[in-house]
Amino acid sequence: LIKLIAALGAGYLLGSISTAVLVGKAYGKDIREHGSKSAGLTNTLRVLGKPAALVVLFGDILKGIVACLVGLYLGVYAGSGVAVDSVSMLLAGAGAIVGHNWPVFFGFRGGKGVLTAAAVLFMLDPMIAASCLGTFVLIVAATRYVSLGSICAALLFLVLSFIPMFGHTIYFQIFALAMASMVVAKHRANIGRLLSGTENKLSF
Ligand code: G3P
Repeated sequence: LIKLIAALGAGYLLGSISTAVLVGKAYGKDIREHGSKSAGLTNTLRVLGKPAALVVLFGDILKGIVACLVGLYLGVYAGSGVAVDSVSMLLAGAGAIVGHNWPVFFGFRGGKGVLTAAAVLFMLDPMIAASCLGTFVLIVAATRYVSLGSICAALLFLVLSFIPMFGHTIYFQIFALAMASMVVAKHRANIGRLLSGTENKLSF
């Protein structure tokens, strides 16, 4: 149990390092007061431009990967036969996403957790991650709505987690359900804007 708490805690602290807030500070802006007010990659690109977005891209992926490595190192597994998952890795990854969304270092106001979740998912199951990323890219390319791509990718992740071919345990499925719900819940305002046709489109 101590290892599981350590995984969750370490993940949460790593996730709480909000790259978008830090980069925003370097530009003299609180990213959470501009654009969609989200401390994430999309809003950084929108408000601060490409170089800043590149740093956030790198930082938010890195913290997801490091959190998973910590979880992997702690080495708590569950399941048997083909269906085996590292529960400590799932918890560390979940912690990183929660930390990104509600960072303890920045007044619990963060981002929507999509990029960090993507990094975590690539560590957990590259096949599922690649399918979700592909779907995300297609939807964003077709509609220019990043939020719509994020929501669809999260829902696809949930569906794929239940497909026996991928051989995951109930722990992975609970993780998928929690992460997908969190992504959708964090996109409440985006969903409202999508429905009313006022959502921001990605533009360069
Ligand atoms: O990953 C976040 C993205 O789906 C939406 O971001 O800033 O447009 O709300 P934003």
